[in-house]
Amino acid sequence: MKGRILVTGGTGFIGSHTTVELQNAGYEVIIIDNLSNSNREVLDGIEKISGVRPAFVEGDCTDIATLRSLFETYPGIRGIINFAASKAVGESVQKPILYYRNNLNILLNLLDLMPEFGVKGFVFSSSCTVYGEPDQNPITEDAPTKKATSPYGATKQICEDIIADVIKSGSPIKAILLRYFNPIGAHPSAEIGELPNGVPQNLVPYITQTAMGIRKELSVFGNDYNTPDGSCIRDFINIVDLARAHVAALDRMLEDKSDKALEVFNIGTGEGLSVLQLIDAFERANGLKLPYKIVGRREGDIEQIWADPKRANEVLGWHAQVGIDDTMRSAWRWQQRLRERGIM
Ligand code: UD1
Repeated sequence: MKGRILVTGGTGFIGSHTTVELQNAGYEVIIIDNLSNSNREVLDGIEKISGVRPAFVEGDCTDIATLRSLFETYPGIRGIINFAASKAVGESVQKPILYYRNNLNILLNLLDLMPEFGVKGFVFSSSCTVYGEPDQNPITEDAPTKKATSPYGATKQICEDIIADVIKSGSPIKAILLRYFNPIGAHPSAEIGELPNGVPQNLVPYITQTAMGIRKELSVFGNDYNTPDGSCIRDFINIVDLARAHVAALDRMLEDKSDKALEVFNIGTGEGLSVLQLIDAFERANGLKLPYKIVGRREGDIEQIWADPKRANEVLGWHAQVGIDDTMRSAWRWQQRLRERGIM
């Protein structure tokens, strides 16, 4: 056993895939989740894939007493991966207080308790949204951050700053900020995947629900951008690849592979794919035709952004491995599994 890890938000999309990879790598995982955007059955999926059922605490990380009692019940936690957060960009514009309250309080509580319980390493889920519209692509970690376009994005920037300030103040912890690009797909077993609440706001769940007939057609937001085919460009990163980056980050901190207390890594493939190219990949990989139409731009969208993942490649020894066709197949298999289970 490599040690105990607390995964907040561990029954969510990224949290569940990361739990599987942590367990496969020999870590013992304790999950805390308030199930506000996930459900208990996710634990069955994790157990089916990895053969281990993680310990589970149903609770809210905004409540410091709940966290304190968790640390007392499970002594010796060595690292924390903090996925627990509100994450819908549009909703954050409607409910800014909820977003600031949740995302900042969760972080502050965890950072507060870490020294008290001797927790050494902290991985924070950040986002490429901190870069805003890049001046050039691919973008490196040294590129300037830009003013956030939503309260959700602002919480990611503020949380990054809080972590830096806490470390500067002499806190005995180490932290790694992972800036995710666009995580997509599902575990190849189709035992776990993304389960959006209501009408999906993100592209791939909208694609798979359209292919399933749940949505009539996909709206492509804009084909008049300054890109080769006019649609926006993103760096779509396979969810299992993304999950593995967290294991590499924890290994680095807990095995003292670096003397830096704070590091930042882009987690992406290094390749930009347009929205239309992604639709094409979905159709090709699954032998399906996807009904879609071009509509106007969506407010707040970035035109194009993709990662320079060189630092993660070289320093973490992490590389994106799963190709886009396999990723799109996994997304479709997951959607089909949801149908088989009568969920969607
Ligand atoms: C958004 C957030 C990002 C967050 C991520 C969470 C912004 C600027 N960024 O990324 O901070 O981490 O969600 O997953 O809001 N699209 C369509 N039709 C659809 C849905 C999307 O054409 O029905 C297009 C969008 O216009 C965009 C691309 O697909 O060009 C990707 O959109 P989406 O999946 O929502 O992710 P981002 O906006 O890149």
